[in-house]
Amino acid sequence: MGEYAIFVIAYLLGAIPFAYFAGRFKGVDVRKHGSGNMGTTNAFRLLGAKIGALVLLGDALKGAMAAYLGYHFFGPWGGIVAGLLAMAGHSWNPFFGFKPSGKGVASGFGIILVLMPEITGIAIALFVLVVFITRYVSMGSVLGALTVGVLVFILNEPLAYKVFAVIAVSGVIIRHRTNLQRVLKGTENRINFKK
Ligand code: G3P
Repeated sequence: MGEYAIFVIAYLLGAIPFAYFAGRFKGVDVRKHGSGNMGTTNAFRLLGAKIGALVLLGDALKGAMAAYLGYHFFGPWGGIVAGLLAMAGHSWNPFFGFKPSGKGVASGFGIILVLMPEITGIAIALFVLVVFITRYVSMGSVLGALTVGVLVFILNEPLAYKVFAVIAVSGVIIRHRTNLQRVLKGTENRINFKK
């Protein structure tokens, strides 16, 4: 019975706001600058590559730990429920009034790395290529997420992973609505590799 507590732990893990903490450490409120997002990209944009990399590590690890715990105790369905709870805690953070916070990409990366590592490799390769060509992280994120969604069905992964893909990819796209609008208007932030 006690093992169901891992779902609460997964949600709380997802809600750890690494970008916010890193910003506070450097005297910057990431909610008020850049895109205002409490995620890896905005940390990278506002706080530099080294701190951005640490936030990426923290956000990916919390997703990976949640998925690992869920899978360990309850198999694939446990993995996806714990993973989705972590993404929800990250994207609509309970410690910040459930307002939109992260966008679920780095935490989602950690989750799929544990549950479907081969698909993750392909999605990451596409993400890197798109970001390198367009310098829009948001485009890399959305196309990377869609790649995961398509591959899960093409490779006929277990039903649990198909359900995860539909919910998680929809969540990532919903959280990138404003980015996509800015891309269409040509006003989206481009990443600066030289920073
Ligand atoms: O993972 C988030 C990224 O795709 C976009 O972040 O800060 O540019 O909205 P941001």
